Amino acid sequence: MHFALVSLFPEMFTAVSDHGVTGRAVTQAVVTISHSNPRDYTTDRHRTVDDRPYGGGPGMLMKIDPLQQAIAAARQVAGADARVVYLSPQGRRFDHSRAVALARETALILVAGRYEGVDERLIEAEVDEELSIGDYVLSGGELAAMVVIDAVTRQLPGVLGHALSAEEDSYADGLLDCPHYTRPETYQGKTVPDVLLSGNHEAIRRWRLKQALGRTHERRPDLLEGRAMTAEENELLAE
Ligand code: ADE
Repeated sequence: MHFALVSLFPEMFTAVSDHGVTGRAVTQAVVTISHSNPRDYTTDRHRTVDDRPYGGGPGMLMKIDPLQQAIAAARQVAGADARVVYLSPQGRRFDHSRAVALARETALILVAGRYEGVDERLIEAEVDEELSIGDYVLSGGELAAMVVIDAVTRQLPGVLGHALSAEEDSYADGLLDCPHYTRPETYQGKTVPDVLLSGNHEAIRRWRLKQALGRTHERRPDLLEGRAMTAEENELLAE
């Protein structure tokens, strides 16, 4: 998978390129990353990348021209057919199923905006998909782009080991994760649930599923609404 990043702050992306699971994916070349910076496509002395909005109002917008040229440069690297994703609070909500779908692409161009946003005509001309990572406003699209990179990378074959496969991730089965425990067996007077020490794998599986169902029911009932339940799940939830 190639991620072609269009951003005024390429250094920010070291958070995913240099660390942890995503960093390893880069080292192993399962993921490659390129950058194009709109500032490199300015022509004036001040290398201006922002401009005032028509109609007035507070804040600035990103200038069309440098941004369009940076996207063109990203297409050169990612391929002419690469999907262009613009991160913004106006986008469709990014979720697990979108991460799984985007992981099937061979390249993604991720456009991170700054200031109050970009000219709508640029979105119409260049962008295939607008994505939001949640109902709040960030100071730029970079953090959102990194969220997409991380969630998509986890879905690529070979990135997570067998013991920690993407199918085991919370949300892969549409449920929140069950609680987890590690040593010591007693911590501040609280003990690990007996079943986890029992060695009974079937009992452990059922306990974990029941916990996941209970948590999802309590904290995120919306996740259960459109989800088909198995007979076992109904039984465990009713217990
Ligand atoms: N840019 C600013 N806020 C954002 C959000 N919530 N999601 C995606 N991109 C953003």
